[in-house]
Amino acid sequence: MPLIVVSSPKGGVGKTTLVANLGVALARQGRQVTLIDFDVQNALQLHFGLALKNRSGYVARAVETADWRRNIVAVADGIRLLPYGTADAAQRRALENALVADGAGFLRNHLGAILAERDGIILADTAPGPTPALEALETLADLRIALLLSDATSLALLPRVLEAEQPARRDRRPPQLILNQIDLRRRLNRDVAAFVRQRAAAALLGTVRQDESLAEAVAQQESVFAYAAHAGAAQDIATIAQRLDRMLFPDHETVPRANTGHN
Ligand SMILES: Nc1ncnc2c1ncn2[C@@H]1O[C@H](COP(=O)(O)OP(=O)(O)OP(=O)(O)O)[C@@H](O)[C@H]1O
Ligand SMILES: [Mg+2]
Repeated sequence: MPLIVVSSPKGGVGKTTLVANLGVALARQGRQVTLIDFDVQNALQLHFGLALKNRSGYVARAVETADWRRNIVAVADGIRLLPYGTADAAQRRALENALVADGAGFLRNHLGAILAERDGIILADTAPGPTPALEALETLADLRIALLLSDATSLALLPRVLEAEQPARRDRRPPQLILNQIDLRRRLNRDVAAFVRQRAAAALLGTVRQDESLAEAVAQQESVFAYAAHAGAAQDIATIAQRLDRMLFPDHETVPRANTGHN
């Protein structure tokens, strides 16, 4: 199934929040969604209420566990999560070393069974900046999404994110861009969004409004769709999910799964 990797050169821009809620949006459209957490913060599970009851994940025994599917948890209708889990320094280093040595091969081995499943979409959440995990994931990815804010420093990073300055990588499709936390009352936000639309329209997958509902939803350990379905950010993320679906499955109709409203 297609693997989508979400990354950002900057920390704290909203990757984990987006992965969690985009996963819910895709599941609400009828897709089977598998979320994988590649960040030691282990924060993706907080969006699904696993924090207290679940300390386990794939990292503690990443090398020894042949098929990481055994660490997968069903967290909502149509959504499975592979949490990073609690891991000590030696366990984290073992994973890091394997990723540095042959990251793509290592991930292909341990995620092979999931990647080979016919239906669904995998969304990978990553730590900020360049990491061995991101490098390996990007080799395997069917689609890469880079998340930025609509501010001056994000704008300065745009050429690097879109890889316009890296001719050696031109064989690879550049990442799709999402601008997050746009506040239309702020002129700088509007200007940056307009600039990106003008200069990189084909790469712009969508924009997400600044919306406290997203932060409030995770505080309640639920998605923005469950917490405030009519929030602006929920609409924005649903729109992005529809575009993604069309990009990944251009020839297929979505067959809605029975939605019991627990997402
Ligand atoms: N569109 C938005 N509107 C308002 N707040 C948002 C929005 N998106 C994310 N946030 C908030 O921004 C903060 C950072 O979000 P998040 O943890 O998802 O970022 P991250 O990129 O995963 O961070 P890190 O780089 O540390 O992994 C959180 O408090 C989250 O609720
Ligand atoms: Mg994060």
